[in-house]
Amino acid sequence: MKFTDEIKRRRTFGIISHPDAGKTTLTEKLLLFGGAIQEAGAVKSNKIKKGATSDFMEIERQRGISVATSVLAFEYQGTKINILDTPGHKDFAEDTFRTLTAVDSVIVVIDVAKGVEEQTEKLVSVCRMRNIPMIVFINKLDREGKDAFELLDEIEQKLDLKVVPLSFPIGMGYDFKGIYNIWEKNVNLFSGDSRKNIEETIEISDLSSGLLDQTIGASSAETLREELELVEGIYPSFDKTAYQEGKLQPVFFGSALNNFGVRELLDCFITIAPSPRPKESDVRVVKPEEKEFTGFVFKIHANMDPKHRDRLAFVKIVSGKFERNVPYLHTRHDKKLKFSSPNAFFAEKKEIVDVSYPGDIVGLHDTGNFKIGDTLTQGEVLQYKGIPSFSPEHFRYINNADPMKAKQLFKGIDQLMDEGVAQLFTLELNGRKVIGTVGALQYEVIQYRLEHEYGAKCTYENLNVHKACWVDPSDPSNEEFKDFKRVKSKFLAKDKQGQLVFLADSSFSLQMTKDKYPSIKFHYTSEF
Ligand code: G4P
Repeated sequence: MKFTDEIKRRRTFGIISHPDAGKTTLTEKLLLFGGAIQEAGAVKSNKIKKGATSDFMEIERQRGISVATSVLAFEYQGTKINILDTPGHKDFAEDTFRTLTAVDSVIVVIDVAKGVEEQTEKLVSVCRMRNIPMIVFINKLDREGKDAFELLDEIEQKLDLKVVPLSFPIGMGYDFKGIYNIWEKNVNLFSGDSRKNIEETIEISDLSSGLLDQTIGASSAETLREELELVEGIYPSFDKTAYQEGKLQPVFFGSALNNFGVRELLDCFITIAPSPRPKESDVRVVKPEEKEFTGFVFKIHANMDPKHRDRLAFVKIVSGKFERNVPYLHTRHDKKLKFSSPNAFFAEKKEIVDVSYPGDIVGLHDTGNFKIGDTLTQGEVLQYKGIPSFSPEHFRYINNADPMKAKQLFKGIDQLMDEGVAQLFTLELNGRKVIGTVGALQYEVIQYRLEHEYGAKCTYENLNVHKACWVDPSDPSNEEFKDFKRVKSKFLAKDKQGQLVFLADSSFSLQMTKDKYPSIKFHYTSEF
């Protein structure tokens, strides 16, 4: 197959949702269609189950699963599909944000009864900022839920999206009869049989025909006609370019658990979703069709075996072919590296591959060379942009609890930060180290892993910080900035990249500082 055809047939995407909306169930049904798994229940949920053992043992269990589900790849009708796993738990939101830098589109799953939930809002806002094309799947139509129009309104308002329904439910919950597929112009009747994997659809291209009445009954047919007329009146017609530019979001309805409406979603997805897109680097925009290989690390996974401290770095291929045993330039270290056993991912397993194409993810064994955001190229010096750090929510001092093991502790902290487990800030005043995390759970993870993987012990001490803000002085040599550094010296730290960060202890003091130093900008992310 031609190189450009290999690129065109690839779809790399993520499924995002609030926990429990049905992401795992939908992923599993998609894999069933691809023939990648044989039975339901094969995909393990990566969510943190409440109540089971301790939360943090649960994380260790989950960490094991998450290697297997990091990338799920399968073939469907000549298309190579790569699903990138995104943790739904809010303490791992930053992992998800980083994974979103490696997808070309997303599917957003929403529970018909719960509507738009907190995590959905956060994740969708990140996708919107990056103009990532989104398809919305409204799930659990077999249950009583919100009225379809009401829900579409809620999605537009809370998520700030411009929706276009491409299917529409006929009834709901107890009365759920099926779905009219606006995209394919057919009716799919609901039988509640989740085992079937080929749905029989009845083609109804003319809605006024009596066939619709025969199929779903006269009164349902009448309601459906009225509703579809409304849909046509209210919503714009579907436009693939607008969707691919992130300006318009098609919506499908269905029930993942019953494998209902999933085939329609998938068939439309492979037709409209973008193949790998060009990506911006610090020097230029790189196109997937370019001959020379480039790619970037978006995730690092520590090996589960503490005796071998090697890690797996997940690289998204942006351009060219990635080949085994070819030396590539690690641009941050200005060093050539060669990989003898790069992994490609399939549903539930990984294998060594010789060649991978743009859109694919390769897993590279790493002994500490990589950190998140690193770029590999065939020789060109460039760095991909767009993996920012966000202000953490929690802050604690980290102390060494075993003076004999200081070296191990620092090495461990360093590597865990490279993996993106948390963020490290070093106070300007006294060099003390502060760990910032998105969720409180990460502190337990860090402590446990430092002990088990590095033989180091740590304790924490609370630190009252409201937000970490990256400081952006308009002129580092002006008096205002000098005054700021002097007055606020207690609250200043450097992040791992050496950027200056202001640790504001309250929203009030942050506001006061902003007012007092108008020429300095304060950012909630490290990239500005
Ligand atoms: P998540 O990954 O987004 O967190 O959600 P997951 O797929 O695990 O689904 C959450 C729960 O919702 C599961 O039930 C799942 O069976 C159920 N579910 C998913 N899709 C549908 C659907 O279309 N209709 C209905 N009625 N339920 C659906 P659970 O009881 O939490 O887990 P389990 O014990 O069934 O695995």
